[in-house]
Amino acid sequence: MTDHTTPRPELWSLDPGQVHLNHGSFGAVPVRTQQVQAALLAEADTNPMRWFRSVGARVAAARLELAAYLQTDPAGFTLVPNASAGVTAALTTLPIPAGSRILLTNHTYGAVRFAAQRFARLNGAEVVEVAIPLEADDESVVAAIAAALDDRTAVFVVDQISSATAMTFPIARLVEVCHAVDVPVVVDGAHAPALIDAPAEHGADFWTGNFHKWPCTPRGTAGLVVAPKWRETTQPLVVSWSEYGDLPERFDQQATNDYTAWIAAPESLRLLAELEWPRRLQHLSTLVDEAALTLAKALGTGVAEVARPAATMRLVELPSAVQLTQESGEALKERASREIGAEITVTGFDGRSFVRLSAHAYNSIRDYEILSERLPRLLR
Ligand SMILES: Cc1ncc(COP(=O)(O)O)c(C=O)c1O
Repeated sequence: MTDHTTPRPELWSLDPGQVHLNHGSFGAVPVRTQQVQAALLAEADTNPMRWFRSVGARVAAARLELAAYLQTDPAGFTLVPNASAGVTAALTTLPIPAGSRILLTNHTYGAVRFAAQRFARLNGAEVVEVAIPLEADDESVVAAIAAALDDRTAVFVVDQISSATAMTFPIARLVEVCHAVDVPVVVDGAHAPALIDAPAEHGADFWTGNFHKWPCTPRGTAGLVVAPKWRETTQPLVVSWSEYGDLPERFDQQATNDYTAWIAAPESLRLLAELEWPRRLQHLSTLVDEAALTLAKALGTGVAEVARPAATMRLVELPSAVQLTQESGEALKERASREIGAEITVTGFDGRSFVRLSAHAYNSIRDYEILSERLPRLLR
């Protein structure tokens, strides 16, 4: 008898020789969805001509299912390969005048910061980063952003759930303060689908989010939600035969590509429903809380006091003697994988270093106990 609290590792094909504690970075595709995608690929290879005649209708059907999952207006919902592409399409569309400012926070994902820098460079604008403490509550986040807005601000790009700090931002209120002074908002909701209900419904100009993280679809599946005001001018990044089509259809096919990930994606949404999401989500939140306390105790540190942590991720402080750089962080992840059989990620913020723990339906408390037993010796 299984219920929403029963770990279900048998539904995935993850290496049982490792503990998988970093769902947040690349997700993990359940076996059922892998099989659906493999069958689609086999079908494509038996007759590529027939396959490509069918792709348009199949992508459109998948797109509608993904839009319904997000509870968003299908007329403004387009498919993109990843959140990075979503942010890039948004910044390509928005006017960024010379001398203007692209506003970010110090929680912004690294590659999104690079995107902001590129568009600032191309337009003679500058990037301004607002410092938000890890422990900041919604009130102080909104106050910090409101104070940073001025008549030079061209756009505010904000994480819905940040990567390095696993912190949830008050999107509805941030959109409100930005729109009050006519500043468009781009929401990077890379982690939001399956963790936040109706994540794109806060009135932002653009919202993007990944299905290949928490909803476990094949990699390369993300959405871009475009507010009515920008639907006519928003273009896919690749110029293709859909150039003169309408949104959202003009994003459906961008030249010759493998569209099986998008077409197979709804299978993972069905699996999540069978796993009793969102009841399971509440359980995972409790599990990751317990996991974080267990690891912090083993390391002799603490769990970071993030005011509104993501449901399924927690930051556990590394001992202060462990000061990670980008390079040594990568080395630590590699050693954890090879020497103690643990797939983990480490993050840094404000001079502090953390293990960022994830929990998904395949995890049990034993996974985190194993990490807690083994990680201290790796750090010695
Ligand atoms: C907050 C945030 N934004 C953007 C991304 C980029 O996602 P992708 O690699 O799918 O473009 C990530 C990935 O981890 C993320 O955590």
